Amino acid sequence: MNDTATELDLGFLATLSVLYVEDEDEVREALARYLRRRCPKLELARNGKEGLEMFRAKHYDVVVTDVKMPIMDGLEMARNIKSIKEEVPVIIVTAYNEVDYFLRAIEVGVNRYVKKPLDPDELLLAIYKSTIIHFHQRELEHKRQSSYDSVNDALIALGHAIMKRNPYTETHEARVAKLAVAIAEDLCLPLDQIEGIRLAAEIHDIGNLDVLEDVLRSPHKLTAQEFEEVSRHPQSGFEILGDIAFPWPIAQIIVQHHERMDGSGYPKGLKGDEILLEARIVGVADALEAMTSARPHRPAYGVETALAEIKAKRGTLFDPAVVDSCVRVLEQANLDFWGVKP
Ligand SMILES: [Fe+2]
Ligand SMILES: [Fe+2]
Repeated sequence: MNDTATELDLGFLATLSVLYVEDEDEVREALARYLRRRCPKLELARNGKEGLEMFRAKHYDVVVTDVKMPIMDGLEMARNIKSIKEEVPVIIVTAYNEVDYFLRAIEVGVNRYVKKPLDPDELLLAIYKSTIIHFHQRELEHKRQSSYDSVNDALIALGHAIMKRNPYTETHEARVAKLAVAIAEDLCLPLDQIEGIRLAAEIHDIGNLDVLEDVLRSPHKLTAQEFEEVSRHPQSGFEILGDIAFPWPIAQIIVQHHERMDGSGYPKGLKGDEILLEARIVGVADALEAMTSARPHRPAYGVETALAEIKAKRGTLFDPAVVDSCVRVLEQANLDFWGVKP
């Protein structure tokens, strides 16, 4: 092993699943003996057709192939492999350097080539270089995802802490999120959009942080002044989250969750399509959940009563498609969506 190979991250190389395709038995076995010392998950094929079948059965991290082979040549196999999984690196081992051949190699998307007579260390380096980039990208993506998850969890914890200021609404956001997600799924929205709805619903009343605690805990029906105080919470939520770069319009959903189809909502009095679909969904889930939960100044309404109220406001306050979906979701759950019926 020369200096080049010893500089490589051998631990990483050992994790790679490598497919090596070569028709000459002697060459294949000799190189396999060498490669297996660094890449124990190496598997062998004798021609392009066999290699392609093996790749179809198991997507390898990297493919190394000879070019000229019977049944199916290396470039034809590479073209097929790229059509199955474009990002998989394909390295060709070749003695040819004609223009035609290179054009074909570029056309099929071959990533690297190693010339014959083969220097095994050079091949190992090519394997390493063609895969380590993807590995780092995956690691970065993983880190991004876990940092997103942490921010998400922190926000939800903050939301719970805020809701705890009012014991009557402690589980409100989680219940709204569950219903909003079920409505979004019923409407067959893309998974990514549903994830945005879920997160927004989980923290939709985060602006209550800025509302006087006495008003939140008010034991009587709110006075006009108290209602004005509470009505600031969507805008406050927007301002709290405004600078966080979410991959979804979380702050917009939150600021709009009390907007209503006929323009009677707040804070801006938006109408119809001016309100994000996500906010229309959270708005319906929020209104229904709030009615089914007790408040200091009134008992909880039954789901039937709350649903009748939502249906009565279908098209005026609430989006008709969202109301219809909400009805379907609750009826499918036998009106026991949150599992509260005895
Ligand atoms: Fe709210
Ligand atoms: Fe709410």
